[in-house]
Amino acid sequence: MTLVKIRSIRAREILDSRANFTLEVEVTTDSGRYSAGVPSGASRGRYEAVVLDADAAAANVNKRIASELKGKNPANQAEIDHLLIDLDGSRDKSNLGANAITGVSMAICRAGAASQKLPLYQYIEKFSRLPMSGKLPRPVFNMINGGVHATNVLDFQEFMVAPQANSVKKSLQIASDIYQKLRKKLGKNVGDEGGFAPPIHFPEEAIELILTAAKDLGLQKSIKIAVDAAASQFYREGKYKTGMGVFTREGLLNYYAELIKKYPIIFLEDPFHEEDWPGFTSITKQFGKKISIIGDDLLVTSPRRVKEAKEKDACNGLILKVNQIGTVSETVEAAGLAQSMGWKIIVSHRSGETNDDFIADLAVGLGADFLKAGAPARGERVAKYNRLLKIEEEFNY
Ligand code: PGA
Ligand code: ZN
Repeated sequence: MTLVKIRSIRAREILDSRANFTLEVEVTTDSGRYSAGVPSGASRGRYEAVVLDADAAAANVNKRIASELKGKNPANQAEIDHLLIDLDGSRDKSNLGANAITGVSMAICRAGAASQKLPLYQYIEKFSRLPMSGKLPRPVFNMINGGVHATNVLDFQEFMVAPQANSVKKSLQIASDIYQKLRKKLGKNVGDEGGFAPPIHFPEEAIELILTAAKDLGLQKSIKIAVDAAASQFYREGKYKTGMGVFTREGLLNYYAELIKKYPIIFLEDPFHEEDWPGFTSITKQFGKKISIIGDDLLVTSPRRVKEAKEKDACNGLILKVNQIGTVSETVEAAGLAQSMGWKIIVSHRSGETNDDFIADLAVGLGADFLKAGAPARGERVAKYNRLLKIEEEFNY
């Protein structure tokens, strides 16, 4: 195999699904051009790597990063990611920008896969060397949106359907049937991730709407429910302030206990504020054997925070988002740690997305348990599910 080298790297600004500018990074090698679109979050964790304005981040790629990586072999992902981290030199990627670094790291990964003539998921599987890699994750679909992703009064951010099907195709069928049924009832007002945003107050109402739709379709046994409370967003001065009332940590825990008892919940994401370690530890102690307690803002895909959470027994599952930490290598490291501890791994989109489908390959390559990419509708969301469908097809042939 002839050695492929990076010839040039260029970033341009493109629109994301919220009409904000974001980056698309294009890596040109001896064998072709490989690009990556950078997503962006709205309910960002405090400890996430720092995002710069798109124009400043693009300038950093074009003026500072491109010349450093010219001539390198794109298949050396770890070496390139470390170079990016060193070049940035900060703890939180605030010098070059997490968006600049993420876009370069992802586009390099695509170029590396192509240089080895492998599909992206196989390439990630090969270099990540995780024991579980190569299995197909189950998709989870956003059906009802609240929190900062919608204009309604629902405090919890996401109510999702996790189809209990043994193929991606069947999962998509179940999700789209439920989505269509909900659309007839709830109209077309949707949140950032494509889930409906009806004027409801209570999480129970959202869950009941989904379960009723599933029941009407005879699908009640084919699904489980997943919830992302995104509790950092409604935490103020030591209290959880919601439209249902003000909760203490214990009060909120009791409320979750009722939901977990009453409904077929498979995982609960960010039930407490990103610094409320005792809240996380107590819910994991009480319910960690029954459901997965997932850290998103809590962990920010950071190997350091994953280790801290393990020491505190604060959760037993990890949301994985490349742009929370900034490089593919650090994302793989966080996934490896989580897997070695027997945690569930959920590879996730962001609320602001592009049509890039990188995360579908990442989820397969790492052997993640779930892929969370929003509603089974809207181009930027279905791009990921449709890519997973194609990978499933490759698995079956
Ligand atoms: P974000 O939300 O992309 O706006 O951060 C997604 C999530 O909290 O899971
Ligand atoms: Zn979340």
